[in-house]
Parts: sequence; structure tokens; C-alpha cells
Amino acid sequence: MKTKVWALCLILVVHSSWLASANMEGDALHSLRSNLIDPNNVLQSWDPTLVNPCTWFHVTCNNDNSVIRVDLGNAALSGQLVSQLGLLKNLQYLELYSNNITGPIPSDLGNLTSLVSLDLYLNSFTGPIPDTLGKLSKLRFLRLNNNSLSGPIPMSLTNISSLQVLDLSNNRLSGVVPDNGSFSLFTPIRTLSSTYDVKSCDY
Ligand SMILES: *[C@@H]1O[C@H](CO)[C@@H](O)[C@H](O)[C@H]1NC(C)=O
Ligand SMILES: *[C@@H]1O[C@H](CO)[C@@H](O)[C@H](O)[C@H]1NC(C)=O
Ligand SMILES: *[C@@H]1O[C@H](CO)[C@@H](O)[C@H](O)[C@H]1NC(C)=O
Ligand SMILES: *[C@@H]1O[C@H](CO)[C@@H](O)[C@H](O)[C@H]1NC(C)=O
Ligand SMILES: *[C@@H]1O[C@H](CO)[C@@H](O)[C@H](O)[C@H]1NC(C)=O
Repeated sequence: MKTKVWALCLILVVHSSWLASANMEGDALHSLRSNLIDPNNVLQSWDPTLVNPCTWFHVTCNNDNSVIRVDLGNAALSGQLVSQLGLLKNLQYLELYSNNITGPIPSDLGNLTSLVSLDLYLNSFTGPIPDTLGKLSKLRFLRLNNNSLSGPIPMSLTNISSLQVLDLSNNRLSGVVPDNGSFSLFTPIRTLSSTYDVKSCDY
């Protein structure tokens, strides 16, 4: 009898720790929700007591119940991003354009090495473009335009060979626009030389 109780305890312990790890991504997204102001209740379905965030609106998962998309463009959100977003290790699309999000771009976003598209344009982000974004080796779309970002364009971005569309225009960036690495392949549609902004570089 004693052994049976032990076995049951063991299963319960294993089961609950599995649940905890399985919902790490839900917890990360829920901390984002807690940090945002959401006047239109677009995050209402983001219930952290569910086993995973895969049924939440604006969240898409792969077959392993791991988050691959967060689509929250044009959602009237304000508040700040959280570093925990860097835990969404399979995230491919982070779409947060056309909101009123303030504060810095977390350097932890450089941990999202599956990211294909990072769209933070038309917000009120401040501070530098994190150097760590140069680690996003699969990134094809990086649109940070129409924010209040300052400082230089990190040289690390020249390392992203997959980059197809880069828009850093309408910020407060300073310094030189790199012209080597992946940047050497860009044809700027328009370069605002007075502010050193890069406008919609496509190739
Ligand atoms: C991102 O990576 C850095 C460096 O490896 C680490 O210090 C940080 O904790 C990571 N962030 C997250 C949210 O996992
Ligand atoms: C940002 O907030 C201002 C007022 O606070 C509002 O007029 C504007 O439409 C908002 N922008 C977006 C993209 O939600
Ligand atoms: C981006 O900023 C520029 C300069 O302030 C402005 O002319 C443009 O209309 C903005 N884009 C959008 C879509 O609001
Ligand atoms: C580019 O990547 C290489 C190899 O990973 C690294 O050694 C180098 O420091 C990177 N350059 C920049 C400017 O980050
Ligand atoms: C571009 O040049 C800078 C120095 O000017 C260097 O740090 C960076 O690694 C170069 N990028 C590539 C991809 O070679």
C-alpha cells in the first residue's frame, strides 16, 4: 500500500512539472499581457490557467503546441514589452505594428533565433536598436520605422544575410548607415541623408 501511494505521488509531481514547463510560453505571453494596456480587450482570451496558449486569439502554435506567431498589429495597445518574450524560442512572426507601445525594445528579442519577421513600426519605442538583433539569422523583415529610437544602427545587423526588407526610417537614429555585409545588397528607395535614416530598403 505504501509503495502505491509513493508511485501516485511521483506521477503527480512529474505531471505538474510537465505542465509547468509546457506553459512556459503561456506564462511569457501572460506577463506581456500584464504589462500592456488593452482598451479594446483584444487580449481577453489570454487565460494563463489553460495548459498552453494555443487557443488564445492572436497566437498561433505549431504541431508541438509551441508559439510561432503573435499577431497584434493595429490593436490600440500601449504599455511596454517584457524581456520574457525572449523565451518564445520557436517564434517566427512578432507583429506589433501600429500600436502605442513605449519604452525600449528588449535585448532578449535577440534570443528569438527562429524569427522571420519583426514588425514594431508605428509605435513609440525609445532607446537603442539592440545589438543582439544581429543574432536573428533567419530574419527577412525588420521594420522599426516611425518610432523614437535613438543611437547608431548596430553593425551586427550587417550579419543577417537573410534580410530582405529593412525599414528604420522616421526615428532619431544617428551615425553612419552600414554599407557592407547584407546592407551592401540594399537599394535604398529613399535615404533621408540629413537624419541618416534608411527608408524601405528592398532587394
Ligand atoms: C537571452 O539570452 C541571454 C544571453 O544568452 C540571457 O542572458 C537571457 O536570460 C536570455 N533571455 C531570455 C528571456 O531567455
Ligand atoms: C495612440 O494614442 C493616440 C492618443 O493617445 C491616438 O490618437 C492614436 O490613434 C494612437 N495610435 C495608435 C496607432 O493606436
Ligand atoms: C511616419 O512618420 C513620417 C514622418 O513623421 C510621417 O510623414 C508618416 O506619415 C508616418 N507614417 C505613417 C504611416 O503614419
Ligand atoms: C558577425 O558574426 C560573426 C560570426 O558569428 C561575429 O564574429 C561578428 O562579431 C559579428 N559581427 C558583428 C558586427 O556583430
Ligand atoms: C561590417 O563592417 C563592420 C566594421 O565597419 C564590421 O564590424 C562588421 O562585422 C562588418 N559586417 C560584415 C558582415 O562583415
